[in-house]
Amino acid sequence: MTTSTSTRADVAFQRCISPHCEATYGVDEVLTACPACGQLLDVAYDPDQLNLPKSLSFFEKKWSQRTDPLAFSGVWRFHELLPFASREKIVTIGEGQTLLQQADSVAKFTDMLPGNLYLQYEGMNPSGSFKDNGMAAAFSHAHSVGAKRAACASTGNTSASLAAFCSVTGLMKAIIFVGAGKIAYGKLSQALDYGALTVAIAGDFDDAMLRVKEVSKQLGIYLVNSVNPFRLEGQKTIMYRILEALQWEVPDWIVVPGGNLGNSSSFGKAFAELYEWGLIDRIPRLAVINAQGANTLYELYERRGLRWNGGSPNQQIIDDYYTELDRDHKRASTIASAIEINRPVNLMKCLRALETCRGVVREIHDQEILDAKAQVGAGGFGCEPASAASVAGVKLLRQQGVIQKDEKVVCILTGHLLKDPTATVAYHGTDQDQFNKVLGSRGVKRAGFANRAVQVANNLEEIVRSIQMYS
Ligand code: F0G
Repeated sequence: MTTSTSTRADVAFQRCISPHCEATYGVDEVLTACPACGQLLDVAYDPDQLNLPKSLSFFEKKWSQRTDPLAFSGVWRFHELLPFASREKIVTIGEGQTLLQQADSVAKFTDMLPGNLYLQYEGMNPSGSFKDNGMAAAFSHAHSVGAKRAACASTGNTSASLAAFCSVTGLMKAIIFVGAGKIAYGKLSQALDYGALTVAIAGDFDDAMLRVKEVSKQLGIYLVNSVNPFRLEGQKTIMYRILEALQWEVPDWIVVPGGNLGNSSSFGKAFAELYEWGLIDRIPRLAVINAQGANTLYELYERRGLRWNGGSPNQQIIDDYYTELDRDHKRASTIASAIEINRPVNLMKCLRALETCRGVVREIHDQEILDAKAQVGAGGFGCEPASAASVAGVKLLRQQGVIQKDEKVVCILTGHLLKDPTATVAYHGTDQDQFNKVLGSRGVKRAGFANRAVQVANNLEEIVRSIQMYS
């Protein structure tokens, strides 16, 4: 099989996700919703035109072609499974060199058997989060259609990723919308250092999201948030790399934090397609983990019984809930600032993914998130708070007997430890005021796994004594 170099309008198109509409649009159109009915869009492929391999092991041979940037990319080496862009227009900054770690100490913490819990470190991407997978795809689409400016609203990682793609390639100007004070310092540093036009709005992510949609429409700026269906095509490759690391064995569970619900949506699409294309013979289950202070999906799916329902979800349940949020002036609030979102734009696609993957949703308190985060750090490379929701979710699902201890479970660690040093230092630190300000205000009471710095005078004898006492 050869890699196709043709333009891809022959194989790819956009299609409304509603089975009642299914309107289709060209692959070159820039859309974030179906013009006919307002629902989200998928990137879809004509099965007769796809150039699919016979088995997933086909992709292993790309490893020997690593001097080709598209074979090196952890996204584009799976080009055959997301063939919407022609080769000449594909952009890569070296994304997707990530790692699946078998994490036995974290397995113990979550009450899994050794060897059965895996951590997928997406923080190893160039901008430090999983967003680079999706950005490689959306940015390539933007480049294909000749965009010169790209915008997003962000809790910090999408913006860092867009800013990096712009600075590294020089192809576009990044315009990013963030909620003032709602973005962790690591992420803000990236946007500023990479030279993005950073618009800090007096509000939160949900406000910024509404505004960026209006502004990009008015000014004709390419929008890279995950309402852009091309973003989610790139994020499918996280699942491909997990399968690859497991030698193409499908795990029992994928556990992922839920914010704007792009990842969960794209994972569901990845598995539905692989199954339909005959490349896997079963689909793993999906657990989406909300922070308790930003728990729209949990509330709607687990408490109010909202389901995709074959494409006919009960919209009234959603409308009622959002009306309640407005009436009660309820805003999202969690230490996991990446997922501090109350109005997830991909809700519908996520419901579909939950149906595809027989999914469950759980909510986790910030205390559990931080304790899980400390355990991930103590047993490996660490992660930012939102990512640790996945591990805390496994612990809860074990307690509830939903996940069995001998099942194979993969937690997606979505962002790098250094994204949010404030939360980490407040947890491990000895400064009670800082603890109260950063964590206590969110109902976090203890730092059960804190690794405190030893305070010692600048005196050789005392330093030596301390080291002997603690090691
Ligand atoms: N984890 C991290 C580290 C994130 O940055 C995000 C989302 C999520 C989880 C949630 O993923 O939206 O696909 O459900 N961050 C977005 C941003 C919202 O703007 O960077 P999701």
